[in-house]
Amino acid sequence: MSITTYYTATSLDGFIADEKHSLEWLFRQDHDGDGPLNHDGFFARIGAVVMGSSTYEWVLRHEGGRWPYQLPAWVLTTRGLPEADGDLRFAQGDIRPVHGEMTAAAGGKDLWIVGGGDVAGQFADAGLLDEIVVYVAPVTLGGGAPLLPRELDLQLEELARNRDFACARYSVVGPVEHTDSMSHGGPRSQ
Ligand SMILES: NC(=O)c1ccc[n+]([C@@H]2O[C@H](COP(=O)([O-])OP(=O)(O)OC[C@H]3O[C@@H](n4cnc5c(N)ncnc54)[C@H](OP(=O)(O)O)[C@@H]3O)[C@@H](O)[C@H]2O)c1
Repeated sequence: MSITTYYTATSLDGFIADEKHSLEWLFRQDHDGDGPLNHDGFFARIGAVVMGSSTYEWVLRHEGGRWPYQLPAWVLTTRGLPEADGDLRFAQGDIRPVHGEMTAAAGGKDLWIVGGGDVAGQFADAGLLDEIVVYVAPVTLGGGAPLLPRELDLQLEELARNRDFACARYSVVGPVEHTDSMSHGGPRSQ
């Protein structure tokens, strides 16, 4: 069965792009392309990708107008965006049919939410986000595009260093369930 992963890089204070949609803070960091939780190893198990319109526009700008993915890709937008030459579909609204179409197209491989954070949040809202992999860059930005603007409980599954980055893989447990109790004294220690 396909699993759905939000794989991204983030600043320490939880932004995946700065206020100007720049990733300059990310690209000046050092990493080992063969190191822990690396992109190529992750990408090898992916059969379909999805992203919001800002990320789509950033990818096209970054690639000089060329669409870089061979895989079936879904772009979420309410606008008429310029089309690129690739296996692309534009969709809007409810994420669940998008997930169904992606799963069918992926042929048993996994699904990648490229970004942004609210798109990953929409999958989580529908109970369709299984896993989050983050590369945490040693920088704070003070503002920008949020990593994942939802309240979710996660379980840490894997933790490693890749040169400048702290890398972590989490499974998604579900929405945070609030209790009124203030009695605990901090994180569990057992
Ligand atoms: N650090 C990293 O590794 C990394 C990874 C990915 C992206 N990024 C960057 O992070 C930034 C993310 O930008 P962002 O937070 O604005 O997020 P985004 O998801 O890229 O774009 C959000 C936009 O997508 C459209 N959209 C989202 N869900 C939709 C739905 N269900 N139906 C219809 N339209 C929908 C909406 O715009 P419209 O309806 O107006 O089109 C929404 O404003 C970008 O600059 C991107 O390049 C960084």
